Amino acid sequence: MTFLSPVRSSPVKLILIVVAYTMIPVSLVAAVLLAGRQEPPDSVRLANLAVGKVGLDSATLVFKSDANLLTVEFGPASGDFSEPAGLKRISGTLGADGLFRYEVRLDGLSPSSSIRYRITDNAGSVIVENSFRTARNPGESYSYGVISDGHGASLTVEPPPAVFGRMMEQMAAEDLDLAFHAGDFTIICRGRPGYPDDTLGQIEDKYNAFFEVGMEFTASTPLYAVAGNHEEIGYKPGKTAFEQQFAMPENQGPDSVKFAEEYYSFDNGDTHFIVLCSDCWEDGYKKQVGPKQMEWLEDDLQRVDSEDRSAGRQRWKVVVIHKPLFRNNLVPEIDNRDRLHELFASYGIDVVFQGHAHYYSRHYRDGVYYVTSGGGGGNTLFPPDCGSEAYPGDVTACTSQFIKVDQAPRLMTVSSIQCDGGMETVQGKCEGALLDSFTLTKSG
Ligand SMILES: [Fe+2]
Ligand SMILES: [Fe+2]
Repeated sequence: MTFLSPVRSSPVKLILIVVAYTMIPVSLVAAVLLAGRQEPPDSVRLANLAVGKVGLDSATLVFKSDANLLTVEFGPASGDFSEPAGLKRISGTLGADGLFRYEVRLDGLSPSSSIRYRITDNAGSVIVENSFRTARNPGESYSYGVISDGHGASLTVEPPPAVFGRMMEQMAAEDLDLAFHAGDFTIICRGRPGYPDDTLGQIEDKYNAFFEVGMEFTASTPLYAVAGNHEEIGYKPGKTAFEQQFAMPENQGPDSVKFAEEYYSFDNGDTHFIVLCSDCWEDGYKKQVGPKQMEWLEDDLQRVDSEDRSAGRQRWKVVVIHKPLFRNNLVPEIDNRDRLHELFASYGIDVVFQGHAHYYSRHYRDGVYYVTSGGGGGNTLFPPDCGSEAYPGDVTACTSQFIKVDQAPRLMTVSSIQCDGGMETVQGKCEGALLDSFTLTKSG
């Protein structure tokens, strides 16, 4: 894979600086030098690249670039690009930061396949080349990851978030088919000291910082984004920036005009994934999953249930949401969590992955596992803020971690992988040590 940087020092400028020190008239010398030289063309810049919305036969790439015309070629990883399965010459839309923003759908792909793609500029130079995997057919085994609260834009801390970067590296080494980031990608602090006015451009800078650390991962692993409170989805710039950075499936629910990409569902292999938004304000700020989203959720659960009944199968059902329904401080983060739990228990949700609380915890209730995986690189909480009020039987660990799920048709293994050291501990190492693991089985 190759990422080219646009920042190059120009030989002509260097020569001019030297000349200035010799006290020779600059204009005369510069004219002589420039007459015999040609400025090398700037490299095309490509940033914030993420694969998303991966289906059995399609996927979407999102990225931005300073070039307004690029070519995307894609095909099976085993082939070459002499006869690409797909080739798209595309132009971008000018964004708030002066870069062109691209969203490219790749069609005609094969299920359960490794797909190679490359992006080239007008001159035919390859800017980036990488691969990812399309969705699995039912009956196949695969792995996926869950990380949350990377707060990857915490660039007020120098050096940049070391733990988050190491976890991205470790996740990349796990050979995951897909991954979820369960919210709080950045620190957007509307109205707080130092952040008096979150314009779209300012928010964009914070996502840029996330991708500076995470793009090696997001360019090769389809990432399903979950909105956290720090994405400020309730404000127009926050919502716009979030939707632009990632390719999410869209819901067709009653509030789809307002929140089409903030909550959604999709299938991969034998699993039905539901992503919910704990911070979408349907009618002003409320600590709840709003009534329209609840309506969509109930419709989705009913649809899957009736499809499974008529097909005589039983899919795994997994929910991902930012704010936890159950975690160890016993205080509900979501006012209607009891109704949500009732739905999850009655429709047989297997696991709910949560973020927001910056540590790991596992809670079991009425057949549903609630796994908090909030140790993704933000400031890890330690006792007494972590673990002091756990429900009896809960597992809690005050450390940086992420989740790896090994999913087989009838067996699901959930592992929490530890990464020592909080954001402040730049020397810490992410060695992939196993922190906690549990399995679920499904008959039939
Ligand atoms: Fe957070
Ligand atoms: Fe949060």
